[in-house]
Order: sequence, then structure tokens, then C-alpha cells
Amino acid sequence: MPVLETSLDPRSAGYTANRAAMLDRLAEIDAAAAQARAGGGDKYVARHHARGKLLARERIELLIDRDTPFLELCPFAAWGTDFTVGASVVTGIGLVEGVACMIIANDPTVRGGSVNPYSLKKTQRAGEIARVNRLPMVNLVESGGADLPTQSDIFIPGGAAFKDLTRMSAAGLPTIAVVFGNATAGGAYVPGMSDYTIFVRDRAKVFLAGPPLVKMATGEEVDDETLGGAAMHGSRSGLADFVADDERDALRVTRSVVARLRWPSPRASLGSAEPKYSAEDLLAIPSADPRAPFDPREILARVLDGSEFDEFKPLYGTALVTGWGAVHGHPIGVLANARGILFSAEAQKAAQFIQLANASGTPLLFLQNTTGYMVGSEYEQNGIIKHGALMINAVSNSRVPHLTINVGASYGAGNYGMCGRAFEPRFLFAWPNARSAVMGPTQLAGVLSIVARQAAEGKGQVYNEEQDATMRAMVEYKIDSESAALFLSGRLYDDGVIDPRDTRTVLGLCLSLVDMGPAAGRAAGPPRAVAANYGVFRM
Ligand code: COA
Repeated sequence: MPVLETSLDPRSAGYTANRAAMLDRLAEIDAAAAQARAGGGDKYVARHHARGKLLARERIELLIDRDTPFLELCPFAAWGTDFTVGASVVTGIGLVEGVACMIIANDPTVRGGSVNPYSLKKTQRAGEIARVNRLPMVNLVESGGADLPTQSDIFIPGGAAFKDLTRMSAAGLPTIAVVFGNATAGGAYVPGMSDYTIFVRDRAKVFLAGPPLVKMATGEEVDDETLGGAAMHGSRSGLADFVADDERDALRVTRSVVARLRWPSPRASLGSAEPKYSAEDLLAIPSADPRAPFDPREILARVLDGSEFDEFKPLYGTALVTGWGAVHGHPIGVLANARGILFSAEAQKAAQFIQLANASGTPLLFLQNTTGYMVGSEYEQNGIIKHGALMINAVSNSRVPHLTINVGASYGAGNYGMCGRAFEPRFLFAWPNARSAVMGPTQLAGVLSIVARQAAEGKGQVYNEEQDATMRAMVEYKIDSESAALFLSGRLYDDGVIDPRDTRTVLGLCLSLVDMGPAAGRAAGPPRAVAANYGVFRM
């Protein structure tokens, strides 16, 4: 296969400036990660430890196989909101006895582990990933249930969490609940709906209503243990399948439950050559100026096995690079924006390439760096809407697994054609420099200004230029902040912001999950199927 060359010069001023700009963005990401790791802060962490309990991340660490990676998902959920970064829950994929499991761990140091609107979105996304990629799910439960001040946002939609758990079980996907502490009211249905339950002795408290509410409702006076302790549920109600001596014992029991599932292990590494160029360079490829385009082949040369890339139609529709390569031995087809704008030729090339990937059952990687489809009368007359629709149709109805990374920009319908969140890629990550919005801040403020000016003229009024300048500045600032990677990650529009240097590792982990094939002996929908039905293409 052809090997990619590089024209990057590490001694150039551009390289140094780009790298410095990316390191600044990365420092912001690291600060957000530290906030997420801090959970509810020193006071609550110390109190939790003093109670002889492990933190959510410590529980995960002890659950997964030693020295194996944990692919944390949506770590920046709720960033930029009134809620704690991370949204009082840790989610991610780790190996347990060699089996890739979706792990959801409440963080009891953040408002008692209660579930706010962002926690709900985050756990629902984790459930979706588990369902689509056919991963067993392990819930590490210790939660005060609904976040009471925001109950109106979560109570009614939150019921889906229980429906989804039982549907996973119906689809043959194992669900395990390990209860470390409180699981009251709706929370009691997490163990209630799970295939296997493990309760920690003297710690687990699972009841539909705690002692105060029972007293109010029926007048009965009862203590926690009698009402919903591990010993009671293990010996009387039968809700606990295993009663563990302590937290470590519970995690040991969980590992042995997973070992007996007879679930296939992912094929982590299929043997592959490392890229020819250093991953460090990935920091310096996106320009410090977000409007300056860059060649995505420079990224591929540092991500693909052996820097090998078999480019498809390199002379046609050159603003979109398409071609074949592999990551950690997993074959992939790549679509990567080269010059921001998508024209008709690019859209047609993309649609053909997606069909080819479906014909060979090859997963697709979308590297987004697009400002959208070309506008203007010439392009409209030549059918840019038809051709964009063709590409969006191909992306929507493609049946092979899609992975998306926003490495720069994702604006307008380009976000749709390049498999944005709404197009359900199996995983979607962003680089720290990434931006996404309906259009750029200057353009958006400009459009608003033109519309307001026309309205004033229509009413025969004099347009206030001073007010217009203030409005434009305010809108630009707002749209600029709302387009940033951390803002979007905070709203759960991706599965995380990653260090560009980790791109190959993250892709390798994701591909090992999507490339597993149907689980043996289970009533499974295949994770990848060929011969997609595209409906009617408007040619
Ligand atoms: N919604 C919002 N905030 C909650 C909460 C909830 N469901 N549960 C706890 N919190 C808050 C507490 O007000 C407290 O805030 P503060 O430190 O600012 O005062 C903080 O989280 C820690 O709670 P605390 O009670 O000190 O922690 P704990 O570890 O001793 O006990 C619980 C944790 C969950 C057992 C206990 O807080 C509780 O019983 N909460 C209510 C549970 C419930 O009935 N939920 C409704 C289910 S639908």
C-alpha cells in the first residue's frame, strides 16, 4: 500500500505557533479533567474515605483488568453549567476478565450521587453505546436518586433508564448491578431490573421509600437494615443474588460473574506497524488560526498503520480526501475534509465511497474539518442541494460502523454530511481546537444584522448603526463560546475531547469494539452488515 509522505517542518515558525496554541487548549482540557476527577471536592471525598468507602474511580480501577486502559466517555458532561463537571457519574469502557464492559459508576461525593439532567443524558448515552456495540453493562450504584431541585427535568424522561435496562436484558445483553450504598426510590429499580445483583453487607440500602417516608405513609417505624439492607435482600426479599463482605469483595464477585458470562473478548490488537511519523506532530497540524485549512493526510500519516493510505479518487473532488487504511490492524475507510468547503464533486465522491465501504463491510472514519457545503447561485444551479442530500442520504443509511472525530471545524450541513452526532456514529470525539455551530460567529452575527437592517428599512425606520455594532459583538462572543469543544462536550454532543496524540489509541480501542462481529450464541443484530438500503437517491 502507498505510504504517506510528510511536508511538516518541526523547525518552522508555523509548527511552533500551532503547537503552542494546541497546548493552550489542552491545558483547558486538563483543568476540566482535574475538576471531573475532584468529584464533589476535598470535603466530600475525605468524608467518603473516612466512611471506609472507595471513590467511583477507585471502584472502576479495582474492577477492570490490571494495566488495561479505561476508555472514559463524556468526562466533561455539565462543563460550563451549574452542575459539577462530570455530572456526578463516571462512564466508560474497560476490560473485566478480558470482556469489554460498559461501566457506569455513580459519584457519591457529588450531591450524594444524585442524578441531574446531565447525569441522565450521560448514562443514557452510555446505555446506547452498550446496546449498539453489544457490551455487557456493570452499574456501580450509590446514588441519592433524582436531583430533587431539578426533578421536573428528569423524573418523567428518567423512567427510560429502567426501560432501557430491561430491554438490554431482553436483547441478550448481560446487566449487573453492584450496590455500594444508597439506591432509593427509582434507584432501587437499577438492581431490580438487572440480571445479576451484588450487595455490600451493612452498606447497601435499597428501598422504595426510606424510613422517614415509610413513617409518614404508613406510620411504621423501621430501621434502614430491616427495610432494605444487604442481609435482608440476600435472605428475605431475594433482590440480592450475592451479599459481599465489603467493597473489594463485591468487585471480586463482579469479576467472577463477568467471567461466567462466556462473552467474547474484543480483538484488541491484530498486529500492525506503527506510523512512520511521531504522534507529537499531531499537536502542530491544525493551524493556530482556526480559519486556515490543513492537509488531513498529515494526520493520517500519524494515525494509520505504517502510515499506509490507499487514496480513492485523489484527482477528483479534492477538498475531500477518501481512502483505505488500517488502525491497529483493523481496516477502515477514511473521509477527511481537506479544504473546508464541500462542493458537488466531493459530495458525489463521498456517496460512492460510502457505498464501497458498505459493499466490503469496512468501518468508516470521518475526520471533520468543514465549513459546510458551497453556497452561491452557480453552485445552487449546479445542484449543490441534490448532491449534499445524496451524501447525507449515504451517511444516514450506511450500515457499517461509523467513527467521527472533529479535528477542526464542523459547521452547517457539513456536520451532517460528515456524520455529526445526529447521524449516530458509534463514537464521536473532538480535538481541543474543534469548533462546531450552524455557522461561524462572524457570519451568524452578519446574517442577523442584515435581517434587522432589512426589517428596519421595510418599516421606513433609520437603522441604528451603534446598536448594530454592539449586537454583533455580543452575538459573536456568544456564538464563539458556544462553538468551543469544551462547551459542546459539556452538553454531551460528543463522547469526549481527546488529546490529539491519543487519536490512534482511542480509534484502536473503538475499532476493537465495533469490529467484534456478532456475539456468539446470542440473538444479536450484527454490529456490521453490508448491502445497505439507500432509498431513493436524487441524482
Ligand atoms: N437531590 C439533591 N441533592 C441531594 C440529594 C438529592 N436527591 N441527595 C443528597 N443531596 C445533597 C445533600 O443535600 C447534601 O448537600 P450539602 O452538602 O450541600 O448539604 C449533599 O448532597 C450530600 O448529602 P448528605 O445527605 O450529606 O450525604 P450522605 O452521604 O450522608 O447521604 C444520601 C446521601 C443520598 C443517602 C442522602 O442524602 C439522602 O437520603 N438523600 C435523599 C434521597 C432521596 O430520597 N432521593 C429521592 C429519590 S427519587
